[in-house]
Amino acid sequence: MTAVVTPSADGSLPLSAVSAPAQIGPFPRRTETPLELENPSAARSRYLSPLRYPGAKSGLVPVIEGLLTASRPSIGQISLLVEPFAGGASTALRLAAVGAVERVLLADADPLVARFWQIAAANSEWLIDRMYEEPVTLERWDYWRSWRPRGEDDRDLAVKCLFLNRTTFSGILHGRAGPIGGRKQESRYTIDCRFNKDALAQRIRFVGELYSKNRIVDVWCKDWQSTLHDVAEWYPDLLPNRVLAYLDPPYLAKSETLYSRSFDPAGGYSAARKGIDTSGWEKGREHYRLAEYLRRKAQYRWILSYDRDDCLLEDPDLYAASRMTPTPADRESIGVRSWYISKRLVDLNYTVAGFGKNGRAAELLFTTLPARCVPLGENMRAV
Ligand SMILES: C[S@@+](CC[C@H](N)C(=O)[O-])C[C@H]1O[C@@H](n2cnc3c(N)ncnc32)[C@H](O)[C@@H]1O
Repeated sequence: MTAVVTPSADGSLPLSAVSAPAQIGPFPRRTETPLELENPSAARSRYLSPLRYPGAKSGLVPVIEGLLTASRPSIGQISLLVEPFAGGASTALRLAAVGAVERVLLADADPLVARFWQIAAANSEWLIDRMYEEPVTLERWDYWRSWRPRGEDDRDLAVKCLFLNRTTFSGILHGRAGPIGGRKQESRYTIDCRFNKDALAQRIRFVGELYSKNRIVDVWCKDWQSTLHDVAEWYPDLLPNRVLAYLDPPYLAKSETLYSRSFDPAGGYSAARKGIDTSGWEKGREHYRLAEYLRRKAQYRWILSYDRDDCLLEDPDLYAASRMTPTPADRESIGVRSWYISKRLVDLNYTVAGFGKNGRAAELLFTTLPARCVPLGENMRAV
């Protein structure tokens, strides 16, 4: 039975009912030959993403690019990189822009984020015009905070995402985070300090170019499991070696306060609001479901990144195993392989001073790319 959602008096939807189209067009877009970019040097600009994303892993991009280069002699060029937890999408954008992969598919379960990428990709000039019309003030911040869409295809969802992301403390889109500069706007940093419209227009236009040049194939608003499953359904000719998933799931600590879709079973930041401690690994929860899927069901290769936590390496229901273990039935019917799982500790800010010193961030990276192609080095240690 379909739930009946009652719009409020002004025709807008309640927050819990907000959704976005599952993909940009009526069906997932087919792959087409990737075309040359007009200005290839733009691909190396320092920032490509128009979003400032909490938990963004831009430091891992060169590491992933290195893995792809090392794997090419064994498995060839990756045709489709899927990012099911896209967030700020800095990894996918960079890899598509420099041609490290032929094309990327972005997906996120948060409708605000997914809609932003859908519109930035397919309606970039519209979004740029809307952005220039928008005064960056506290009044507009209040407006967008309480604004609700009139339907799932409402393009203004993308404007809301961009506005709040660039004007809210740490780029947090949901929950209690306030405007940059506070309600009094007395700080040196005011609400518009991260809203350089010309720079944002350039980045949005570049996202549009990646889409029109077939390097972003589509943007999906889906849960990670549907994304992984549907990619295998829609692009079967690329299985198993020409598709790669890069997964950067919400981390344990604080994710319920950062994202509207976290792995908190109660959804979003509801647990934090109720004062429930969600800081421990808990069997049966989404992190275990993801691990189970990646170890037993994934039909193509994957790279997974997590903030360092030894539990990930020790728990057999997470990633203690060194090989995928599909059931004989899945091996037979959908061709799941028993790929080796390489594990590395990566120092995101490596300098000669030493690994992980001075509290520098270390990240765990797991991958089923061919083991001989996963390098060890000063900034990459086996674990
Ligand atoms: C750690 S962030 C990803 C950050 C991204 N790698 C970057 O560099 O900006 C995790 C993302 O996963 C999304 N997410 C949370 N639960 C999800 C789910 N069940 N399925 C798909 N996406 C989900 C959140 O909305 C958030 O954007």
